[in-house]
Amino acid sequence: MPPVATSQQSVSSNGSHAHKSARMGNGVDSVHSSHSESRWSTSMAPIIVFDSTKGAKIQKGKSTSICCPPTRELFLLPALPLASSRVRTTGHFHPRIAETLVEQAQKLTLSSRAFYNSVFPKFARQITEMFSYESVLLMNTGAEAVETAVKLARKWSYMKKGVPEGKAVVMSFEGNFHGRTLGVISMSTDPDSRGGFGPYLDGVGSTVHDNGETQTIRYGVIEDLERALDLNGKHVAAFLVKPIQGEAGIVVPPSGYLARVRELCTKHNVLLSCDEIQTGLCRTGKMLCCEHDQIRPDIVLLGKALSGGVYPVSAVLVDRDIMYCIRPGEHGSTYDGNPLGCAVAMTVIHVLVDEKLSERAETLGRDLPQRNCGIEVTARATSPRQGSTECNRHRRSEQCQGKDCVAVLPALEEPRRACEADIVRFAPPLVISEEDLRKAVNVIAECLNDLDRLDDIPGEVESEKGHKDVLTN
Ligand SMILES: Cc1ncc(COP(=O)(O)O)c(C=O)c1O
Repeated sequence: MPPVATSQQSVSSNGSHAHKSARMGNGVDSVHSSHSESRWSTSMAPIIVFDSTKGAKIQKGKSTSICCPPTRELFLLPALPLASSRVRTTGHFHPRIAETLVEQAQKLTLSSRAFYNSVFPKFARQITEMFSYESVLLMNTGAEAVETAVKLARKWSYMKKGVPEGKAVVMSFEGNFHGRTLGVISMSTDPDSRGGFGPYLDGVGSTVHDNGETQTIRYGVIEDLERALDLNGKHVAAFLVKPIQGEAGIVVPPSGYLARVRELCTKHNVLLSCDEIQTGLCRTGKMLCCEHDQIRPDIVLLGKALSGGVYPVSAVLVDRDIMYCIRPGEHGSTYDGNPLGCAVAMTVIHVLVDEKLSERAETLGRDLPQRNCGIEVTARATSPRQGSTECNRHRRSEQCQGKDCVAVLPALEEPRRACEADIVRFAPPLVISEEDLRKAVNVIAECLNDLDRLDDIPGEVESEKGHKDVLTN
């Protein structure tokens, strides 16, 4: 059977590793099939082929990740500690999550949305109590949760705020990334996400018209938001914000910024909607990243880690006065609130709490920069491309200290998305052992140092051509 290309590709920053991986049979086939039969969901240089469990032994009872046969260890090492786009916070094959998945799959996986199922209410109670919101609406992917938040905010603004029908605005910030659906990319300022997919949704985005000029609301610049709300506050239903911008290059806003955003939203009767799909669920050392600023958003979006990496679940948490603006039957998805997803997500939350993964993220993240890795690795990664204004603007490593960089740990994941490869984001499962973490960071550091010795940097060529070069060399 030909190897199946997975979406879990990762990237080595070292050319020699790349060539080794390409010669290892499986890798070549996977890269070939990925490129001829599908499209990358992100623009990555697939130098390492990470086949997930294929050919890998699972270490039973160990929740960290996958153990690979020795022959593949060399090039898989950097890929292993990753959390599949911040999804596997609880590790690969966490036994409790796997057990729940299997157990629930043998009982009931899906019921018509016309009926209640026995698992959803338990999960709804658990998650609303955990985050102190009155209600939850479940979706599947993160982008659907964002779309749901936009719909909720619009409806709320017409019903409660008195925005004239059809005039509601949902604002976001420059450099945002909230997913790939059409409504969501309509907010984007990134030509790679947005370009060529128009026409776009009206009434969303990060631009305002100010004295005949179009201005973009910069992330982290409170005056921009202040001005935008002074100009348009009456029609603004919600502000959609990420407590840390990931794809824009791990941009941590100035301290106290979110608290000011909260104040301004309250002043203008605008819903503050926090996209915690990436930063939530322990990744930054708190259950929600916005807890660092001690604020309570009106809408909280969760996804990714909530699924345990085994079954997509996303959640929109709000109080009833917002939720009840949508009546039964006005919004939903075939799979929302299904018993399988609910059971898995419930166990994920138990694992996060029982294994104290917030504290773990805090501790591991705090120690890393002191060991001259983490953010230092990021800095070295920038060296081949220093000089670009755009990149320098986004390179905020000096702000990523202590709890902030924690386990948003500058990463090897999606390096090409994070500002043209100048920033490396390393987002390991939070169950990773200290030893594995140190080992992984050292390997990454070595790979990055090797870049200086390479004439051609893998991934610098146009992505399609790059793959071909790797395969044919
Ligand atoms: C902050 C944020 N929001 C939303 C999304 C979209 O999630 P999904 O890919 O599950 O639709 C992502 C995905 O990377 C994300 O990082």
